[in-house]
Amino acid sequence: MPPLAYHGSMRPADPFTRLSDYPEHRAFVGQPQRYDLAGGSQFALLFLLGLREHHRLLDFGCGSLRLGRLVIPYLKAGGYFGIEPDRALVDAGLDHELGRDALTLRRPRFLHTSDFRADGFDTTFDFIIAQSVFSHTGVAWVRRALASFAQVLEPGGLVVANFLLGPEGFGPSPETTDWVYPECVAYMPDRLQALAAEAGLVMRACPWPHPELHWFVFAREEAALPPREALGALRVAPPAWRS
Ligand SMILES: C[S@@+](CC[C@H](N)C(=O)[O-])C[C@H]1O[C@@H](n2cnc3c(N)ncnc32)[C@H](O)[C@@H]1O
Repeated sequence: MPPLAYHGSMRPADPFTRLSDYPEHRAFVGQPQRYDLAGGSQFALLFLLGLREHHRLLDFGCGSLRLGRLVIPYLKAGGYFGIEPDRALVDAGLDHELGRDALTLRRPRFLHTSDFRADGFDTTFDFIIAQSVFSHTGVAWVRRALASFAQVLEPGGLVVANFLLGPEGFGPSPETTDWVYPECVAYMPDRLQALAAEAGLVMRACPWPHPELHWFVFAREEAALPPREALGALRVAPPAWRS
């Protein structure tokens, strides 16, 4: 992330606010006017999929703690793990969203690695979430990350990740080895299914709303996936972006 420059205060979203009026740590991870919605939506999804306070959660590509500012206080101390290559984003999240007291109260742990591996904490996870990460990467990194997730996922655990679905190569090619941002790499569902199988995971679509991407859940075995009816119940109306 470029050096942070804060423009104005963190006032409520306003359709006439210029992009440059939002703090950069919010603008960098997605549309800043829906920073609250994107964080709340991830928390709600994880909660409905069974996340509870005693679980260990890996927030892969945790950015400026859009989810972290909600889920770190929710989880018991030591339950939150974030991987984010850009340390400045995490620092901005701690300073401007969550507050550094949480470091002592909840003991979240962070790694600033970019190798698409999840084994750096030397622990296993009940949930792994990767929101808006694989929409910006090619197949090689998705492959590596899913294989690594499979290694550190508890037997009954879930990976919750979203992807852009669409004709491959219409935008940036899935063969890219770059981090493609803010453009998105599109995948066909068959490709995702094959990548999951290659990693030793099973996968099911999850109809939880997202304005552009599609959610999927992955597990080490079929029995650990939420039943289809339970996932079907997550097909709720998309939340309004603003109240
Ligand atoms: C669109 S942002 C989403 C951030 C966060 N998941 C959220 O919902 O706010 C994508 C994040 O992935 C991070 N990222 C980029 N390369 C990565 C890598 N190799 N491993 C993990 N995260 C990465 C970026 O720095 C950025 O914070």
